Amino acid sequence: MSLKTTLLLLLGVLERSLAVSSHHGRSMPGSPYNISTDDKSLQKVVLKAAYSFNNQSNDAFLFKPSAIHRAQTQVVKGIRYIVDFDISRTVCHKRNKNNNLTNCDFQPAGRLHQTFRCHFEMWMIPWTNENKIQVFTCGP
Ligand SMILES: *[C@@H]1O[C@H](CO)[C@@H](O)[C@H](O)[C@H]1NC(C)=O
Ligand SMILES: *[C@@H]1O[C@H](CO)[C@@H](O)[C@H](O)[C@H]1NC(C)=O
Ligand SMILES: *[C@@H]1O[C@H](CO)[C@@H](O)[C@H](O)[C@H]1NC(C)=O
Repeated sequence: MSLKTTLLLLLGVLERSLAVSSHHGRSMPGSPYNISTDDKSLQKVVLKAAYSFNNQSNDAFLFKPSAIHRAQTQVVKGIRYIVDFDISRTVCHKRNKNNNLTNCDFQPAGRLHQTFRCHFEMWMIPWTNENKIQVFTCGP
């Protein structure tokens, strides 16, 4: 193996271990700062959170974001989004695979009306489209 190959391999290993340590919250350069809750890329992040929520829930209906309370980003070998938002039950049945969440209305006040408060942290590399949900907790 040539010296050049060895160095490239070592660099590859270093890259990966840096990526891993970012995943776990160490080696974080920039500090988080507030962004507007109208931010276009934030809307996509929150939608991704909703897809993940729906994928994991056993509910008969789809949920979608109903309010964003706080949003921050942090530059760490990409961007980390830290979001506190509400997610509410819609009238769209989960079993209908053709649902477009954008067009699903919220449940009217009543028995089926329900909202959870969520904390979501997602790390992404915009230029490769790679992303990883680091924290996702929801409660009443
Ligand atoms: C960030 O936003 C939160 C919630 O809106 C607010 O409480 C906090 O003071 C803001 N921080 C800064 C540095 O603006
Ligand atoms: C949905 O969840 C399953 C199992 O938990 C997982 O394998 C799959 O990748 C998820 N799909 C999406 C779109 O998140
Ligand atoms: C859902 O509907 C919105 C607006 O009607 C549209 O912009 C979006 O592309 C649709 N998404 C899918 C997956 O069809």
